[in-house]
Amino acid sequence: MARILITSALPYINGVKHLGNLAGSMLPADVYARAMRLLGHEVLYICATDEHGTPAELAAQEAGLEVAEYCEKMHAAQKQAGADFKMSYDYFGRSSAPSNHKLTQHFARVLEDNDLIEERVSQQVYSNADGRFLPDRYVEGTCPNCAFEKARGDQCDNCGKLLDPIDLINPYSAVSGSHDVEVRDTNHLYLKQSEMSEKLRAWVDKAEGWPHLATSIAYKWLDEGLRDRAITRDLKWGIPVTDKEGNRRDGFEDKVFYVWFDAPIEYIAATQDWAADTGEDWESWWRTDKGADDVQYVQFMGKDNVAFHTLSFPTTLLGSGEPWKLVDQLKAFNWVTWYGGKFSTSQKRGVFMDQALAIAPSDYWRWHLMANAPESDDAAFTWEEFQAGINSDLANVLGNFVNRITKYTASKFDGKIPDGGETGEAESWIVKELQTRIPVLIDLYERREFRKAMAETRAIWAAGNEYLTQAAPWSHYKMDVDQAAVGVRTGLNLAVLFGIIAQPIIPDAAAKILDALNIPEKNRSWGFGDFAGIPDLIDAVPRGMEIAAPDVLFAKIEDDDVAGWTEKFGGKSE
Ligand code: MF3
Ligand code: ZN
Repeated sequence: MARILITSALPYINGVKHLGNLAGSMLPADVYARAMRLLGHEVLYICATDEHGTPAELAAQEAGLEVAEYCEKMHAAQKQAGADFKMSYDYFGRSSAPSNHKLTQHFARVLEDNDLIEERVSQQVYSNADGRFLPDRYVEGTCPNCAFEKARGDQCDNCGKLLDPIDLINPYSAVSGSHDVEVRDTNHLYLKQSEMSEKLRAWVDKAEGWPHLATSIAYKWLDEGLRDRAITRDLKWGIPVTDKEGNRRDGFEDKVFYVWFDAPIEYIAATQDWAADTGEDWESWWRTDKGADDVQYVQFMGKDNVAFHTLSFPTTLLGSGEPWKLVDQLKAFNWVTWYGGKFSTSQKRGVFMDQALAIAPSDYWRWHLMANAPESDDAAFTWEEFQAGINSDLANVLGNFVNRITKYTASKFDGKIPDGGETGEAESWIVKELQTRIPVLIDLYERREFRKAMAETRAIWAAGNEYLTQAAPWSHYKMDVDQAAVGVRTGLNLAVLFGIIAQPIIPDAAAKILDALNIPEKNRSWGFGDFAGIPDLIDAVPRGMEIAAPDVLFAKIEDDDVAGWTEKFGGKSE
């Protein structure tokens, strides 16, 4: 039994997430957490909302709310959406929590003591009308490269060039629209990442089990040479920059830490909050001097987050000189696209987490998004494939199997697991099939190969249907009840096993199956992981036990549904 710490990239607070966000971090982390718990490991799965930065301020402004109030509301909404999607977080925190303020300020202090943070003067756009320095995205103007008139301070949306706001021609404030702006000197704290290059490279060199996507991004940055980065911003909302006494640092009265400095620290702070809530010990998960050296730490994220998790956050942790736990395995994803294009709220293209559940149950989304996880490449969502996958994998393969065998038991065997009969060729075949496939499935989960794990799960379910075709209890029933009994009993035991392996992916349907088959909670992980015991597994449920046929497990998706959703949420772009 291992101790496994799991974090998924913290979703930004600025709105309920769309299915692409879900598929690239929270959902796979959840499936992995559930699979590892099922295998008997001790798992701690931590997530939180990422509540600082300009996006939070801008979204609050748009909603007409104070930032604190907006964040509270959106945190609740995201927490609810997560619960509705059956995310099994052990804790869902907030990066604006007091624990994160304290810990972020702590890291800044030790990094400065270690000469890895220093104050530097730079030039920045100041708005007289707004009475403040403007962070990059709050300045707009004409692009010096292509003359586009609405370029943002950090990047031109027209030509794509990365910009420095002081280079914009005819700059104005995006806050007030005022052109009364000027360039002034200002101080910020800089994290001297460049000085950590060698240590970071040595650490990345030792990384095992990272996908190529993750190592290649880390090396690309290391090879280009790490640059020192400003880790403070001119914002009101955020974590205040303090001095040794805990007062606002001189000259930093209107500045806070940059969102990407404090957000990953929240992984730790949220664990502290979890511990405070539950009476557990957070240090044994995060301090290598306090037991965390035997923790396996796995992070999940989209590819745009990789540099922050392989370079910036490790700079914070390693640079502190304190014994913090670093990530062991990092799972990075490409994008889920909408028919090959971008999700877009404004153009009604794509589905957001809260809308999705009005369309289909969470199990449908969980299955589809994991079966098509954007692992080796981007993956396009289409309504047509959603329909085809659900109808074939869930309704026809799994649903049909459970339905056939339980209904038949109800009608011919009094709803009880039948006794009698001897196993034969068909049973030997399915046992062998399971003895090869179950270890493969476990291995795929352990390597976090989700697409393949889903394909293997589907193949195991399909083998059940093949078994029933071979055993054909219905054709033996009249002549040889005992022979039929073996087929039915084996089929029911398979249904239990199929319910058990379905739990990480489609927890609701799995529970329905296991409830109907009368399997007590304590036996719902039983057998999985012990493939030497597979011959027993097909005769494990007590004979004579009463079972029921579950209600419809998976209603099919009809063409009319697809037509309606396409109209409402968009489909192929014209
Ligand atoms: N909010 C970021 C995003 O959605 C991810 C933050 S991950 C963390 O891209 F490590 F910083 F927390
Ligand atoms: Zn441009």
